[in-house]
Amino acid sequence: MKSFELGTKIFFGESSLDRLLEIETQKILLVADPFVIKSGLADHVTSRLNKRGVSFDVFSDVVPDPPVEKITLGVSALAQSKADTIIAVGGGSAIDSAKAMREVVSKMDGFENKHIRLIAIPTTSGTGSEVTSFSVISDPENQTKYPLISDSILPDEAILDVELVKTVPPSITADTGMDVLTHAIEAYVSTANDEFSAALAEKAIEIIGSFLLRSYLDNNDTHARSKMMVASCLAGIAFNHSSLGLNHGMAHQLGAFFHIPHGRANAMLLPIVIQYNSDINKHSRSKKEYPKQVRKYCTIARMLGLQNFNTITTIRALVSWVEFMMKEMDMPLCISAMNVCSREEYFAAIPQMSEAAIADSCTASNPRTPTVEDVEKLFIELW
Ligand SMILES: NC(=O)c1ccc[n+]([C@@H]2O[C@H](COP(=O)([O-])OP(=O)(O)OC[C@H]3O[C@@H](n4cnc5c(N)ncnc54)[C@H](O)[C@@H]3O)[C@@H](O)[C@H]2O)c1
Ligand SMILES: [Fe+2]
Repeated sequence: MKSFELGTKIFFGESSLDRLLEIETQKILLVADPFVIKSGLADHVTSRLNKRGVSFDVFSDVVPDPPVEKITLGVSALAQSKADTIIAVGGGSAIDSAKAMREVVSKMDGFENKHIRLIAIPTTSGTGSEVTSFSVISDPENQTKYPLISDSILPDEAILDVELVKTVPPSITADTGMDVLTHAIEAYVSTANDEFSAALAEKAIEIIGSFLLRSYLDNNDTHARSKMMVASCLAGIAFNHSSLGLNHGMAHQLGAFFHIPHGRANAMLLPIVIQYNSDINKHSRSKKEYPKQVRKYCTIARMLGLQNFNTITTIRALVSWVEFMMKEMDMPLCISAMNVCSREEYFAAIPQMSEAAIADSCTASNPRTPTVEDVEKLFIELW
């Protein structure tokens, strides 16, 4: 028996932040990315709270790839504030921090029977964290980054208002947009995929094909940016249902070891992982039979207008399209182009990163079951 549930109520479209004028609450903790506070973006939220006359505290000690240490600080802030509602405003890092904080506090003495409501308001169009049961936490001491996965982590409400993504600069639009693409593709080929997640992933891919480059090229293209917000959310619901795959399992390690932004790590891996999962590379010749996921990758290629001569050339066209998008958006295609570490440091980390990628919970639903040696080869290819 299977089920599909949409646990988060989503408000979207023009002036959707006005939802904040309706919420019933005694006390709010605003969890926000420091940029969101400093740039004045948070005013879109706080002005509405002030209008409503509700009291709120602010926790803004949020950093990219939130580490355990910052979550601990957030847990104290939340427990002290006695808030009945958390409003998380920021990218995946701020929303994931809020999710983890609530999860820990709800298990503390005195809080067991209190449901702290979580309203997630994304300021990037990438992670889909506003609608997922995932919270990705870093443990710098052990050089790991792992997803906490639990239904109780899911935000109660999400508000998608394009006002908040207008300031996203091109490089972050590129990184986060490629994260959306990776979510949609991995959800689509995942072993846990079904018609419900497929429908959501297909729509997300269609939107990305039309609007990611437009969003990258022009901050003022509000139409494109609002579409990408929706795509990010759709892809989030898709992968929340069907999980992800090896691409994310490996990307988490690049984040943990070398602090490569999440979306950029996913983008660099995507061409390599599509070829690995399809068992097709530039030397491949036609075969009688292909792995099941190849048909799905070909469907994705067709949705992007990349129908080609035969199965192999269609997969190659999909890989080339991903690389084309990365070049158009000035993204590095490999680790050596990034200056984040020396060759020696990178190769020394490969055995540990490969073991961790196999153990990562996202990898379990990859359509091809990788061995540690397979993953090592893919990391080597990525250099
Ligand atoms: N929970 C999930 O389901 C899920 C899924 C994928 C990734 N993640 C995690 O989410 C994190 C990445 O999130 P992200 O890609 O949204 O990046 P992020 O939240 O780390 O933010 C990246 C940068 O963008 C800036 N920023 C945010 N909003 C902005 C705006 N409107 N204008 C200008 N700058 C802005 C931030 O200050 C930060 O410097 C990673 O830790 C990743 O592992 C979570
Ligand atoms: Fe992701």
